[in-house]
Amino acid sequence: MKIFLDRQSPKPIYLQIRDRISRLIKSGALQSGDRLPSIRSLAENLRVNKLTIIEAYSVLEGDGVVCARQGAGYFVNSLNTSSANLKSTFAPAQNVIIPEQSGASFFEVHMSAVQAQTQKGMINFSGGLPRPPKDMALIGRRALTNVDTLFAYEVPQGVVTLRKQIAQMLVFQGLEVTSEDLIVTNGSEQALSLAMHYYVQPGDWVIVEAPTYHGAIAILENLGARIIGIPMNAEGINLELLKQYLDSHRPKLIYTISTLHNPTGITTTQAHRQELLTLAAKYECHILEDNAYEGLNFEPVPAPIKALDREDLVTYVGTFSKTLIPGLRVGYMVVTGKHIRALIERKLLQDIQTSSVSQAIVSEYLASGHYRRHRKRLQTENLISRNVMLQAIERYFPESARWTVPQGGLFLWVQLPDNVPIEAIRYQAMAENVLFASGSVFFPNKQGYPAMRLSFSNPSESEIDLGISILGKLLKNYSSSHLHTASGKEMALLCNF
Ligand SMILES: Cc1ncc(COP(=O)(O)O)c(C=O)c1O
Repeated sequence: MKIFLDRQSPKPIYLQIRDRISRLIKSGALQSGDRLPSIRSLAENLRVNKLTIIEAYSVLEGDGVVCARQGAGYFVNSLNTSSANLKSTFAPAQNVIIPEQSGASFFEVHMSAVQAQTQKGMINFSGGLPRPPKDMALIGRRALTNVDTLFAYEVPQGVVTLRKQIAQMLVFQGLEVTSEDLIVTNGSEQALSLAMHYYVQPGDWVIVEAPTYHGAIAILENLGARIIGIPMNAEGINLELLKQYLDSHRPKLIYTISTLHNPTGITTTQAHRQELLTLAAKYECHILEDNAYEGLNFEPVPAPIKALDREDLVTYVGTFSKTLIPGLRVGYMVVTGKHIRALIERKLLQDIQTSSVSQAIVSEYLASGHYRRHRKRLQTENLISRNVMLQAIERYFPESARWTVPQGGLFLWVQLPDNVPIEAIRYQAMAENVLFASGSVFFPNKQGYPAMRLSFSNPSESEIDLGISILGKLLKNYSSSHLHTASGKEMALLCNF
């Protein structure tokens, strides 16, 4: 490979190498699957240090254009970002949802998702799971050698070493946090539950995004809150409608997933975050910011809303379930100001403390640098999978489908025309060994438009292509049968499938 290096240029050599290889890929001179020269041979060829080449390849990997395969070297990704249509087409009707009864669906949805994981041969687009880390046994062993601390009770707030590590991680995201502002929880689900029960009394109004994470809707329904679902548009929650309902209903809490939203994958802008906070402050409404998918971003993301908070209005929640291992059950919440003491007391009353063993394992991951490497791997591999899925959707789905293009996370969201019987299609897909999450469960009382949440993180590239082609066929079958023949009786049969 010939690369001209300008050794007088202020641009560092590794970036010159990165730019040149990027251009070769864009021009088609280097194609999908091509192997890059080995680090040693390119270093010798260019007469630079091997570290310079490692740095250049790492940046290319971070850009998502190449990937490392253990023992085999670096390869041009099978799809670079320019080959799929990256424009979101998501544009749903803006209907506010105020349900009169609860949907009570989280239990069934969760149980069927857990059971589906064990079914052989199923292409699973439904789960919200990361790819497993490769080094769990090593890290687990190391974490458990320091057993002394594991034989005693911990403070309910969580092991101080881990809290310091999390605080440090959050400072990099723009939060001014110390270990004293943190509570380590049993997954972020417990953090959501603690905060919701603390800020909301039965009968209080609470605003959620529509759609939103169904596990949060379930907690709110369970505690007797009255829910207002404000629609999402391509930028995030509709701020006009939010203002209107803050004014008319004076809610106690806004629950928001500002970054890599579940289920849409949308990340809001800095301006949107500022406006949301300003509105909440004006109406003295708390914000619960759930950042469960932090660290899975393909591109830099704005600092969380909590970073803009000067009045202790925002409670921030995070987790290691989406980047490490859900079964460890380690999440956390950041609570500044006067509320922290009451929340620690509630944590103590619920379960004394989060497992010291799990905390020790997460702490070892953070201390050893394995966590950073693992996250990098997830980002690179998820980007490839997302692109494969986008390409397949473009190829197989009917024109009437609209979808989001998330810059990270695990899911994308497909919005379908109002008359699509999504539950019937879900059952038909299951019969063909494809599982997806029906959009309805992400709306308060299932009152939203037909949609699919598709996880791109677990299936292989060939499974993604096959699974999406099956879903596309079912959607197109429905469209053509609906256009030509669908009588009321047939529709009823289809819906009862
Ligand atoms: C947005 C969001 N918040 C919280 C959770 C709960 O995750 P955990 O309790 O495993 O941290 C999930 C899980 O899917 C989620 O998607």
